[in-house]
Amino acid sequence: MGKFYITTPIYYPSDNLHIGHAYTTVVADALARYHRQIGDEVRFLTGTDEHGQKIQRRAEAAGVSPQAYVDRIVANIKDLWLKFKISNDDFIRTTEARHEEAVQKIFERLYRQGDIYKSEYEGWYCTPCEAFWLERQLQEGNKCPDCGRDVELVKEESYFFRLSKYADRLMKYIEEHPEFIQPVSRKNEMINNFLKPGLEDLCVSRTTFDWGIKVPFDPKHVVYVWLDALSNYLTALGYPEETDLFRKFWPADVHLVGKEIVRFHTIIWPIILMALDLPLPKQVFGHGWLVLESGKMSKSKGNVIDPVVLIDKYGLDAIRYYLLREIPFGADGFYSEEALISRINQDLANDLGNLLHRSLSMIEKFNGGIIPAPGGYQDLDRQVIQQAEESVADLKSAMESLEVNQALAAIFKLVSRANKYIDEAAPWALAKQPEQQERLHTVLYVMAETLRLVAVLLEPFLVETPAKIREQLGIKEENTGYFESIKWGRLKSGVRTKKGLPIFPRIEEEKATEPAAVKRPEPKKEAAQPSEVKADRITIDEFAKIDLRVAKVLEAEKVEGSDKLLKLKINIAGEERQIVAGIAQHYSAEQLIGKEIVVVANLKPAKLRGILSEGMLLAASNDSGKLALVRPEVEIGSGAKVK
Ligand code: MSP
Repeated sequence: MGKFYITTPIYYPSDNLHIGHAYTTVVADALARYHRQIGDEVRFLTGTDEHGQKIQRRAEAAGVSPQAYVDRIVANIKDLWLKFKISNDDFIRTTEARHEEAVQKIFERLYRQGDIYKSEYEGWYCTPCEAFWLERQLQEGNKCPDCGRDVELVKEESYFFRLSKYADRLMKYIEEHPEFIQPVSRKNEMINNFLKPGLEDLCVSRTTFDWGIKVPFDPKHVVYVWLDALSNYLTALGYPEETDLFRKFWPADVHLVGKEIVRFHTIIWPIILMALDLPLPKQVFGHGWLVLESGKMSKSKGNVIDPVVLIDKYGLDAIRYYLLREIPFGADGFYSEEALISRINQDLANDLGNLLHRSLSMIEKFNGGIIPAPGGYQDLDRQVIQQAEESVADLKSAMESLEVNQALAAIFKLVSRANKYIDEAAPWALAKQPEQQERLHTVLYVMAETLRLVAVLLEPFLVETPAKIREQLGIKEENTGYFESIKWGRLKSGVRTKKGLPIFPRIEEEKATEPAAVKRPEPKKEAAQPSEVKADRITIDEFAKIDLRVAKVLEAEKVEGSDKLLKLKINIAGEERQIVAGIAQHYSAEQLIGKEIVVVANLKPAKLRGILSEGMLLAASNDSGKLALVRPEVEIGSGAKVK
């Protein structure tokens, strides 16, 4: 058992916190919940960064005082985190007395020891980023190298912080602690773009506006907002007092931040800590952005996506799952509502939801709704148990390297294995043979025990689903501690299950095409430009988007009232789906059952004659109306990829 102190950046109060902002906080929440689950003592901090020129200008534009302006917005931000069920232990506002007083003490100490000195600043300032830039760092046309907006020329009396004095020490630290800046690409960027060219002393006070923490010994100055903001990670623990919280939790284990603010966290922040003679955080992890095709979400682009609308439309766990699963941590991820829906339908509805629903249906049908006692395990059962062990181990290593998407992938590997197991063990066939009663019991038990385990493993990521799974299994939350709860075989037999509604209903086509949660940008003009590529040619990447799979036809029947359509039940790698195909005039149902065909597995579901079709089979037809199914030349197994 250890301790785990994790922080998100503190947010600028904004009325437009979008799904991208929620990403940092949801990932931090999953990490915090995981560490609590494994028994660590956890401190999870978030909050708001309320001072600075940007906020003052916005408040002026809104005709209210900066304090009134931030108070209203901060209340909304707190509501947003409640809506996401974020489990933060503290929420710090930089306008709170506990923070302001502590920052004044920090500033004063740095001044007294000679690390801060008074001079005059003449240079460039980006107000949206609240960042100082040197002439040589600007983009052409005097633009901010981070956000591309106009910078302003500033000339004012300022206090300066001796960054340059600590530059060599920081470089050495970064080199000796390869885990400090992650992923490695960000570390290299910091070294090459900022440390190697040399650090200039940093301007750490402003006099041309007053919305900030006053420099205690020179109150016409306010403390530079980044010095103010970064200090929150210390002040929230009670620093500079030697509180219990501070002694227990400092240094932070992880500062989780978006990639554009890694610079502040890995150059300015460690030097402040060095000057204060404090240990550095163990890791700063710079994650990528969630972007739209039209670029990074931003209010000025008018393309923000409201997370509240998405939660209301698809449910909290679906949105949490999407954020945690879809984006390889560290890299940028593209947001699209289509990708969101396909994640929900494939992983949550088809894989997880279906596993629960079919398992409970079978326990109900073949054992009166009671969890049976298992008999002896066979190889097939052992394969599932082994996958469970592997998933637990993979999840652990993924969480240690902060790859939450890989952690979820590990859990869903078990879910898929269990679905496949059901197809292979075929409890419906065992149920027909009285002498197979014990075997049937074992299979039903393996199914239910896998679900219990999946609920335990999902706990850090999904906040409603584990309880729903347990409720349907008829069991309570375990209080044995994580390491007991992940042992195979803890599920008690004799328990009465309570099959309920599907936990993740498939998103129907109609819902998916409702006005989207996106405030969509105007279509880009360039999109209408004639393409240089011939219209009928696609790139290999475009082709790779089509998920062609071998599927086995389990059942087939004619669609009533149509002489063209057949309704097929197919199996793709253990997942059962229904598709509707216009081949009834060429193939009879009997000709198809048991055959392998090829389907487009990632096609958006559609309804044909009111019947849901979750994919499309491939067939060739010629001008004389002849039609032939595309089929693998030899049996290759359902789920095999066609490419
Ligand atoms: N106030 C500063 C942080 C100070 S920390 C001492 C700040 N605030 S912010 O509100 O602009 O951003 C908060 C977090 O949201 C940052 O980590 C930022 O990277 C993240 N994101 C903002 N837009 C994002 C996406 N589109 N995608 C992913 N994360 C994004 O920066």
